[in-house]
Amino acid sequence: MSGKTSNQASPRMAVAVLASGRGSNLQALIDACAKLDFPARIVLVLSNVPGAQALRRAEQAGLATAVIDHKQIGSREAFDKAAQEQLVAAGAELVCLAGFMRILTPGFVAAFRDRLINIHPSLLPAFPGLHTHERAIASGVRFAGCTVHYVRSEVDVGPIIAQVAVPVQIGDTADTLATRVTSSEHHIYPQVVRWIAEGRVHVQGARVTIDGAAAPAAVYFNPQPTISVSAKK
Ligand code: GRF
Repeated sequence: MSGKTSNQASPRMAVAVLASGRGSNLQALIDACAKLDFPARIVLVLSNVPGAQALRRAEQAGLATAVIDHKQIGSREAFDKAAQEQLVAAGAELVCLAGFMRILTPGFVAAFRDRLINIHPSLLPAFPGLHTHERAIASGVRFAGCTVHYVRSEVDVGPIIAQVAVPVQIGDTADTLATRVTSSEHHIYPQVVRWIAEGRVHVQGARVTIDGAAAPAAVYFNPQPTISVSAKK
């Protein structure tokens, strides 16, 4: 028997996922990690909400789970200390926030500096916080999207690793736009985890570089122009 495995030469990065709700981004990470050539594995799914759908998804995938009920534990500091202990005990090298609806203390953020990432459903720095799709539509922007970024102490702030731009369509509601943006999240989050696990992502101040990943050459219009403009003068 050959006994050849994909992770003998380079062990897969140990990833923990923090989620409070539906867990569709967690599911995208679970599905990515199920592929033999994916360079990361999920060692813990931690939630602050007992009964969260994310926990059911983790259990179905046979992953270790932990619940720290924020209503029971009292202070924010106590919650973050307990979470940090669980993450360290699980050996997490990278922590992914995936719909984790809690503000983390500066101490927690510092403990995982440049090892803690978040996905947010807007093109940051536009529309930090909640209700991003309603606000994007109301503001009239032509592109919405999502952002994966390193976490800093301020909410939805931190060096941007990757973004996906999604056109806003005439007649979009928050729900139709959310559907389009969410499906882009499911592509980009596993991709970023792959890049990090492959050691290709570097942070310098506010800017992030990714070895071997280039910006697209195309520019995108919304609406699509109906006239062609000659470059000649
Ligand atoms: C996603 O839109 C994510 O960008 C935001 O919270 C939502 C979580 O959705 N931070 P899910 O729980 O992953 O389905």
